[in-house]
Amino acid sequence: MAKITVGILGLGTVGSGVAKLLADDARFRVKWAAVRDASKPRDVDLARVRVTDRPFDIIDDPEVEILVEVAGGVDTIYELIKTGIERGKHVVTANKELIAKHGSEIFELAHRNNVTVLFEAAVGGGIPLISTLQRGLQANRISRVAGILNGTTNYILTSMEQRGAGFDAALAEAQRLGFAEADPRDDVEGFDVAYKTTILASLAFGSFVDVESVYKQGITGITDSDISVAREFGYKIKMIGLAQRRAGGLDVRAHPMLVPARHPLASVEGSNNAIFISGSAVGEVMLLGPGAGQMPTASAVVGDVINLASALRLPDFAPYFQPAIDSKRSQACSIEDCESAFYLRLEATDTPGVIGNLGHAFGAHNVSLNSILQRGVTAGGAATIVLLTHKTSERSFARALREIESQPTTRRIGVALRVFEQAS
Ligand SMILES: NC(=O)c1ccc[n+]([C@@H]2O[C@H](COP(=O)([O-])OP(=O)(O)OC[C@H]3O[C@@H](n4cnc5c(N)ncnc54)[C@H](OP(=O)(O)O)[C@@H]3O)[C@@H](O)[C@H]2O)c1
Repeated sequence: MAKITVGILGLGTVGSGVAKLLADDARFRVKWAAVRDASKPRDVDLARVRVTDRPFDIIDDPEVEILVEVAGGVDTIYELIKTGIERGKHVVTANKELIAKHGSEIFELAHRNNVTVLFEAAVGGGIPLISTLQRGLQANRISRVAGILNGTTNYILTSMEQRGAGFDAALAEAQRLGFAEADPRDDVEGFDVAYKTTILASLAFGSFVDVESVYKQGITGITDSDISVAREFGYKIKMIGLAQRRAGGLDVRAHPMLVPARHPLASVEGSNNAIFISGSAVGEVMLLGPGAGQMPTASAVVGDVINLASALRLPDFAPYFQPAIDSKRSQACSIEDCESAFYLRLEATDTPGVIGNLGHAFGAHNVSLNSILQRGVTAGGAATIVLLTHKTSERSFARALREIESQPTTRRIGVALRVFEQAS
């Protein structure tokens, strides 16, 4: 049988892993690899691969049936992928930002051109999460997808938890060990989890969710003392992507949460990812594994390439892998319409009546307190106060917080975090 010709766009961490795996598979011929700098030495045998810095060498080559996009970024890559699709190429991509922002247009274009776009590696790295949602759980109505979707933030939070490191030290260590990018903003400020959660929500609920409507909060405001106080309350702090159906619409968000210490997500450590999917027939499914890294991600990319190749050689191939997603966009509900229990850390003047003032502000807005504790007083007379509320509306909590901020005894609001709730 004739080999399938592949062009790889990008030969960095993931692209090199993909080239290695495909080199060992006799069904494929990697003809091209496009990079920014063709003179850079590469950690992969490229004896039979043409390396170019002109991506159109791949796009214009009629022999290339599958375009593997592992370059990253959006603007240039979006244009290249659109042109590739228009020229009849099937696409495999690991690019979560691209799919979260332009998935709707890309799948529509692919449908019109009778080609397929696969993106298993875009969420959960090596974990077969997209195919599980798209195919394995097709018989279910999915009510909720929730999990740890970013290895960098999980590595940082685990290191703060286990070694008592502060955020900056934990980030620096993650960078030194290759678990965090030199520019970590996408990860630590929540963008990456928001892209991935948007994709999962679109697949789970069958309607493209507008990524701009997805609420996000990063982990930069979390201190080592938040981690240790959370532990005293019986929780671990984890960066969570959450997508669930609610009476008022789709609740899709990406933010750190206090996860009960006995919940399986709390024991997911280091750069691992883990996702819970709640389906009407299956109940709860948990997937756990490496969410990033060269070979785990290449495993997902090449899995897509092989799936595509098997289908391409079928006589009646149709792009049957394409997700069943309504091209009409949905908005995630406003965060103000959500409900959670909250953790709050603040600094207040250490004078009598402070706790009473807090109680009054929460009471006035119908927020009920679960626990409250005060931590040591600084030389400047400031006490750290940490509290947990019962479940309340975001609106009520925000109003109480505004009142607390305006109280003369409040010196500074530290951080407010939401508490994770089991699927009902
Ligand atoms: N790394 C992971 O663990 C992981 C996990 C899941 C998903 N992903 C996704 O996989 C993609 C690639 O990630 P990566 O970590 O492999 O990135 P990377 O190491 O930075 O590699 C990017 C590669 O793409 C090339 N490139 C970038 N822009 C290009 C352009 N406009 N034209 C031609 N070549 C271009 C670069 O060329 P030069 O080498 O010449 O600079 C480099 O070879 C991203 O979308 C990322 O989100 C990565």
